[in-house]
Amino acid sequence: MKASLFALSASLAVVNATYHWPSPLIDQVEGLLFEGRGEGRPDNDLLDLVGKLAQCQSGTFGESGAAEWIRFAYHDAATHNVDDGTGGLDNSLLLELDRDENVGVGMKHAKADFGHFPNKYLSFSDVTAVGVALASAECEGPIVPIRAGRLDAAVAGPFGVPTPDQTLAEHTESFRLQGFNPEEMIALTACGHSVGGVRSNDFPAMVPGIPGVAADNFILFDTTTALDNTVVREYLDGTTKNPLVVDKNATLISDFRIFSSDGNVTMNKLADPETFDQTCSRLLAQMIDTVPSNVQLTDVINPIPHKVDGVQLSIGANNLLLRASLRFLDRNDNRNVTIHWEDKAGGCASNECSASLINFREVTTTLSARLGLFVTKYDFQVGVNATTSLSKFWFTVDEGDGSASITLDNDGTGYVIEQDTVLYVPNSSTSLTTVVAVRNAVPPMRVFMDIYARGPVLTTTVDFTPATGIASRIGYDFYTFDYTGVDFTFDLHALVDGTTYTEDMRNTYFATNNPDF
Ligand code: HEM
Ligand SMILES: *[C@@H]1O[C@H](CO)[C@@H](O)[C@H](O)[C@H]1NC(C)=O
Ligand SMILES: *[C@@H]1O[C@H](CO)[C@@H](O)[C@H](O)[C@H]1NC(C)=O
Ligand SMILES: *[C@@H]1O[C@H](CO)[C@@H](O)[C@H](O)[C@H]1NC(C)=O
Ligand SMILES: *[C@@H]1O[C@H](CO)[C@@H](O)[C@H](O)[C@H]1NC(C)=O
Ligand SMILES: *[C@@H]1O[C@H](CO)[C@@H](O)[C@H](O)[C@H]1NC(C)=O
Repeated sequence: MKASLFALSASLAVVNATYHWPSPLIDQVEGLLFEGRGEGRPDNDLLDLVGKLAQCQSGTFGESGAAEWIRFAYHDAATHNVDDGTGGLDNSLLLELDRDENVGVGMKHAKADFGHFPNKYLSFSDVTAVGVALASAECEGPIVPIRAGRLDAAVAGPFGVPTPDQTLAEHTESFRLQGFNPEEMIALTACGHSVGGVRSNDFPAMVPGIPGVAADNFILFDTTTALDNTVVREYLDGTTKNPLVVDKNATLISDFRIFSSDGNVTMNKLADPETFDQTCSRLLAQMIDTVPSNVQLTDVINPIPHKVDGVQLSIGANNLLLRASLRFLDRNDNRNVTIHWEDKAGGCASNECSASLINFREVTTTLSARLGLFVTKYDFQVGVNATTSLSKFWFTVDEGDGSASITLDNDGTGYVIEQDTVLYVPNSSTSLTTVVAVRNAVPPMRVFMDIYARGPVLTTTVDFTPATGIASRIGYDFYTFDYTGVDFTFDLHALVDGTTYTEDMRNTYFATNNPDF
């Protein structure tokens, strides 16, 4: 793993040089990768989903969430056409799940798992790419570097995912169109078929069902659940039970035809674990970076050393409330982190513009631990004078080891709070009712919300009405709207005196899970 870690570190400087908070796409993908979650959501994170499904173990019937995610990503990417630059990892698969070439309940599982995470900034296909990196890390496979910026297709693409009954020549041409040469075809298929297996409901001719049981029976590709080269070694030493190698129907043994297509030269190379890891890291990354030629991917996303997220300005009983988290990539129990803020006049009229914390929570994931990180979060929730309000905040950090304290101020700009005219009020909201507060100095002409139901496409725009049950306080009036979608993100807007103020991308998560805020 040392080699992959070094490769990631080498490009760290590139990302850090251009990173500036907020960068919604980078922030979210980075969060999903190294904390397992996005949008500051402590619940329902992607790694938990791997864990719930399988923790890379075989379930009762052999199913593996990690395998389902990797197959899903491959089937989406596999219809790329290198000749005309169309297709690739673009989420067209969601529109192609009724095709025989995409058979399987595993596809529906992956669709449901990933479906919690897309939003205005984050495409379904970027979530799919992240899923491959998490699945590999969870299954002791290689670190897969992740870029972001994939776009989701609005229409289905052409057919073309390889099927077992095709000839070697057809597979070779199919992989060429995907951008892989014959050696890469062998290796990528071995990487993919190192996890999971073949299911009775999908390929009953190869795998018999269990009498009286509707669930899938499985024959796994190899004897370990890890994303390692066991599939290669068992093929070479003749002990493999991989149906795509040993099935009695010679038409269906596509892995045998592919694996042996160069006289086993590539498979013999992959018998070395280090070679297998490095090859799979490179080819799985190429697979998820296979995108239509009009898509521009970001640089590889590396852990951000000091990351701010979960920023929410809201309204308490008699002051404003600022919530923000600062995340470190290491643990230091002596560390004392202080948040500072400045009021709108550029000073601290209220004389109370800082707060300190030494308590952190750990948010390390399998992937970040594999990179040698211990990820810790300091969660601030501070009262801010509603009259003087705030314009920006920043941090000072005392490591408690005698060294000088450092300032984290977003490269000099501070972490800017753009506006306090329209604020989300999670404490009064529920998953069905969204409550916002609007500064009432000038009567607002319109308070409205753009709703994104788990995707980059605007679902609907709705207008709020005055909240009859909530009395105005500290200069704010309250507005409400009932929306029956259970899981969505939204932008809040108030048009006041000719200017539209916006609170960008909030999440229903904050409503139901933060009773104290
Ligand atoms: C000629 C190329 C390929 C053929 C014909 C092929 C065929 C198959 C078949 C028949 C299955 C069983 C699916 C089921 O029972 O639902 C399968 C499973 C799988 N394939 Fe492939 N495959 C190919 C290449 C790849 C590649 C390149 C990858 C990814 C790198 C991949 C990843 C997977 C994974 C992870 C599974 C297990 C899914 C699970 O257990 O839920 N395959 N493949
Ligand atoms: C082998 O599989 C092919 C493709 O599914 C099928 O057409 C053929 O009938 C099978 N042969 C036998 C002997 O079952
Ligand atoms: C490749 O290895 C497999 C498994 O050991 C064997 O059955 C096959 O004959 C080999 N092919 C060549 C061309 O050496
Ligand atoms: C949130 O609402 C509860 C009651 O619903 C109240 O007790 C609590 O003080 C409120 N918290 C804030 C920060 O306003
Ligand atoms: C943390 O630092 C602040 C600001 O220097 C200080 O007031 C506070 O006492 C420190 N807390 C601890 C536990 O050392
Ligand atoms: C907020 O600041 C204003 C202006 O400095 C001051 O008059 C007011 O008393 C402060 N409010 C609270 C609740 O401290």
